[in-house]
Amino acid sequence: MCGIVGYIGCQNAIDVLLDGLSHLEYRGYDSAGVALMGENKINIHKALGKLCNLIEDLKKKDPKEIKSHAGIGHIRWATHGLPTLANAHPHSCNCKGLTLVHNGIIENYQEIKNFLTEKGVTFTSQTDTEVAAHLIAYEYGKTKDLIQAVSNATKKLKGAWAFCVMHKNEPDSIVATRKNAPLLIGKGNGENFLASDIVAIIKYTKKAIYLEDNQIAKITKDTISIYNEDLILTENKVESLPFEPVALSKMGYKHFMLKEINEQPDVIRNILQGKIKDEFSKVNLPDVNLDKKQIEKINRIQIIACGTSFHAGLVGKYIIEELTNIPVEVETSSEYIYRKTIADEKTLVIGISQSGETADTITAIKQVKEKNAHVLIITNRKESLLARLSDSLLHINAGIEVSVAATKSYIAQLVSIYLLAIYMAEKKDEKEEKLQTIKHELLMLPAKIEAVLSNSKKIQEIAKKYSSYKNFIFIARGINYPSALEGALKLKEISYINATGYAAGELKHGPIAMLDETMPVLAILNKGMVYDKVMSNCEEAYARRAKLIGVANNIDDKHKTIFDDIILIPDIDDSVSPALNITVCQLLAYFIAEYLGKDVDQPRNLAKSVTVE
Ligand code: F6R
Repeated sequence: MCGIVGYIGCQNAIDVLLDGLSHLEYRGYDSAGVALMGENKINIHKALGKLCNLIEDLKKKDPKEIKSHAGIGHIRWATHGLPTLANAHPHSCNCKGLTLVHNGIIENYQEIKNFLTEKGVTFTSQTDTEVAAHLIAYEYGKTKDLIQAVSNATKKLKGAWAFCVMHKNEPDSIVATRKNAPLLIGKGNGENFLASDIVAIIKYTKKAIYLEDNQIAKITKDTISIYNEDLILTENKVESLPFEPVALSKMGYKHFMLKEINEQPDVIRNILQGKIKDEFSKVNLPDVNLDKKQIEKINRIQIIACGTSFHAGLVGKYIIEELTNIPVEVETSSEYIYRKTIADEKTLVIGISQSGETADTITAIKQVKEKNAHVLIITNRKESLLARLSDSLLHINAGIEVSVAATKSYIAQLVSIYLLAIYMAEKKDEKEEKLQTIKHELLMLPAKIEAVLSNSKKIQEIAKKYSSYKNFIFIARGINYPSALEGALKLKEISYINATGYAAGELKHGPIAMLDETMPVLAILNKGMVYDKVMSNCEEAYARRAKLIGVANNIDDKHKTIFDDIILIPDIDDSVSPALNITVCQLLAYFIAEYLGKDVDQPRNLAKSVTVE
């Protein structure tokens, strides 16, 4: 959440900052702001809402006023304080000599605010960030050295931060530091960069230095100096950035979300390449460092993740238990971290995160590492903080996902989990026949998803019909129970319709009280073990006059009449069906939100990377 970028060099800083921020906008869109180093002063420009508002404001300025060799920029996802101009970053000290941008949360800000208020500091915003600006300025007053001041100040802070700081007395440098929030330095030629995500700077450089927790960096146009927390000069590895600049284009689609849903078949082909040849060959996962002996030792698996990634983890429970006979627990990271951590060297902990930056998941993984569990990370960002904590890595390789609502990354997580489950079962010599079926289904999956995508028109018509409903229920059982949860999440996050997913068998234990003709129920019923059971739950819903939508590969003639609408998917083994069913739900959510005119790619209040607890 929040995106930060910094630049120093020979280009006009504002161009690099605005370009960088445009690639970070998925991290927040409550406000945007930049600070530009001027002649003996720092010029600040801020605007409320999306970045385009700031760009429009800047167009009205005299170009001379915004020309600068150095600057920092920010896009905000509000944590402390409303999305107002006063709360927008950058924040400055009272004399305006020091200014900074921040990503994270300062937990003890009230205590520091009280201390600084007693020293005569006045506050102009409701943010935790402003406290840091004043505190560093206060320390600067004592030391007259920005590195020392940042070091002294951050030692007094609790929480998470990535800061980029400028002082008018040190116009040829920017100081940066981080703790539990991402920040990297881009190394250029006669110019250097700072960013919370490589996408902001990948166009300008392929060399990056990742800052460790509590390190402090000072960048000038020609130098990068990194200090540890005792201010001893240290050297970090310069790494090659892993991918080419991405053309963040919608490729003719109205929204990134629709483009990303349509990319799903190719995403799967990409993942499978080199990992499965055919159903008779073994799965090859080169970055999973678990041999037969280690896998046989594992007596428990814990999957930790948030949101959509958590739902992928729930599918993982069904499939991994089925194929390996190892018990699997799945938990949201935010719950996992505030109770006793029970894990040991026989535990395999799987962290799933598209961004690899989710603060709660990072904290959870750090906790289990202390217990010597083997940590396997499934992520779309192999350079991320989370990937760096892994003992084994499954890079889902879905390409940059721009839409805030996760779609192709979910499918890629599912496929990666199937591969892992098969890989482990093969090492344990388990269930050969079933493994062949699943491998075959995975190889067929791209074509089957293409068949669902080609049915988009029908799903669009159904979406229009249901777009005026205020509530929605999704039901399913077994391995598709997570599909009901994920389908409901997709709908609520982009259309703001109140949607809830239930295990179908739970309907009669409470939720059925809500059913009447104003409540659509979407039921996922694959022809498999639980088909008849879910059908009985559909009958119960029908008897309460709920509108019924069936998503299935076949519905018996005798049951067809209870459904208001049926969306058919290709035949598929139950175990792999969540990937097909969710494609239907993603399209339905997309078309409903689109029909309602919602901001599909950037839904209100959400951010793509949740880097605060
Ligand atoms: C929903 C969505 C979120 C994320 C969650 C975890 O569409 O995108 O629920 O899944 O914030 O994010 P990652 O996977 O980056 O850890």
